[in-house]
Amino acid sequence: AEHDLQLVARRIRSFPDFPIPGVLFRDISPLLKDPDSFRASIRLLAGHLKTTHGGKIDYIAGLDSRGFLFGPSLAQELGLGCVLIRKRGKLPGPTVSASYALEYGKAELEIQKDALEPGQKVVVVDDLLATGGTMRAACELLGQLRAEVLECVSLVELTSLKGREKLGAVPFFSLLQYE
Ligand code: PRP
Ligand code: MG
Repeated sequence: AEHDLQLVARRIRSFPDFPIPGVLFRDISPLLKDPDSFRASIRLLAGHLKTTHGGKIDYIAGLDSRGFLFGPSLAQELGLGCVLIRKRGKLPGPTVSASYALEYGKAELEIQKDALEPGQKVVVVDDLLATGGTMRAACELLGQLRAEVLECVSLVELTSLKGREKLGAVPFFSLLQYE
């Protein structure tokens, strides 16, 4: 597992001043490009979830758009299906929505009303946790469907932004932490 974590850590690149000055962008492109490292990241997340929740998870929920790069693979590794949480206006049929703050203005996430039944147990996956606004909106959305969020996970966590504190009582797990 330690070796797996090194494989993952070696394939996250950092770009200063992207997308705006002062932001250090963590780029997962090299991880996706290398099959062994990508597989290691999925193995690590799945291993954590198996240990923590056993067979209790019903679905993985992937967050539009970079969470989609990991959601279905993680679900497959656990023998589960993946449901999609999308940015506003992308999903057909009846949906529920939750808004969250962006640097300037706000955005909205949506899920189809029939994506989950009340009481179903879900783990939310995204690539990265920064302020936690996106992840919290996802939890709120799942709450509207009366689904139970067992845990939220990401590959990268920017710890100085304290995003996990926004998630309240919902457990959060990340593979790699940066300040
Ligand atoms: C990025 C990232 C997370 C979110 C984290 O997504 O993929 O989803 O920001 O930020 P937060 O914790 O402060 O909410 P972005 O909205 O840039 O869109 P993308 O995934 O479609 O690239
Ligand atoms: Mg995103």
